[in-house]
Amino acid sequence: MKICCFGSLNIDMVFAVNEFVRPKETIQSKGLSIYSGGKGLNQAIAIRKSGAQVLMAGSVGSDGKLLLDECDKCGLDRSLVRVLDSSTGTAVIQVNDAGENCIILFDGANKENDEEFIDSVMERLENGDYLVLQNEINNLDHIMRSAKAKGIKIFMNPSPIDERLLKLPLEACDFLILNEVEGAILSGADDHDDIMKELEVKYPDTGIILTLGENGVRYRTESGSGRKSAYRVEAVDTTGAGDAFTGYFIGMLSRGEGIEKAIEIAQKAAAISVTRKGASGSIPLVEEVIGFHKF
Ligand code: RIB
Repeated sequence: MKICCFGSLNIDMVFAVNEFVRPKETIQSKGLSIYSGGKGLNQAIAIRKSGAQVLMAGSVGSDGKLLLDECDKCGLDRSLVRVLDSSTGTAVIQVNDAGENCIILFDGANKENDEEFIDSVMERLENGDYLVLQNEINNLDHIMRSAKAKGIKIFMNPSPIDERLLKLPLEACDFLILNEVEGAILSGADDHDDIMKELEVKYPDTGIILTLGENGVRYRTESGSGRKSAYRVEAVDTTGAGDAFTGYFIGMLSRGEGIEKAIEIAQKAAAISVTRKGASGSIPLVEEVIGFHKF
């Protein structure tokens, strides 16, 4: 069984600020760091760090060497990462003193995945393989329908959520791994109980993993439903914490863990990642995650 993450690869330009810039303001940052990122690449790295093999698929521009090097450093198979004659996706990120972030995306090559390329990715996958998706690349409709037709398991992290995402055949997904904001928009409900109920009605055949920050995680899958409380840590930078969770959850499932255990380990990985700067670079290795005992 293979895991393919077909997603974005971004250069993250991270500005450390006291507070986020507001309209009409010009502010001084406390520092600028350049990291590899993109929800696709971050999740692929999290899957790899959890101990599973992963095939990364996506597109960068001619300025994307940093990201190719990161794939190599982390041991990803990047034979399905194309280098196009265009610009690499870029994220301008502010991280404030509370460790919160706000992000502006430039899609670049991430939105240049044509059907021919998608079909060549699908040729490498077969029935029962895992396909990991987020909402930072184009042509997701074609990707999801092709995967479903081949019996590939689709794990969808519907982030960032936008109008385009609402038109996708999300009922084709085997798992939706989403946060409170995404859950509220997809379900039309506000309260956590109602979000879970409405998502069950809308996507009866899809496992739902709803992450709620300090309120933990709610889940419903064919093997049962429940909730897990959150681990409390001092946040330095929350960028990529959702990706650490998603990647670890999928990696652990692929390694044979049950849903509850996979969620617990994913929560630990995300908790450790928020105590460090950066996105993919802040994701811990599995040995550290297993040894994490804070409550
Ligand atoms: O989830 C964090 C990621 O979102 C960043 O790495 C940035 O590139 C954006 O894709």
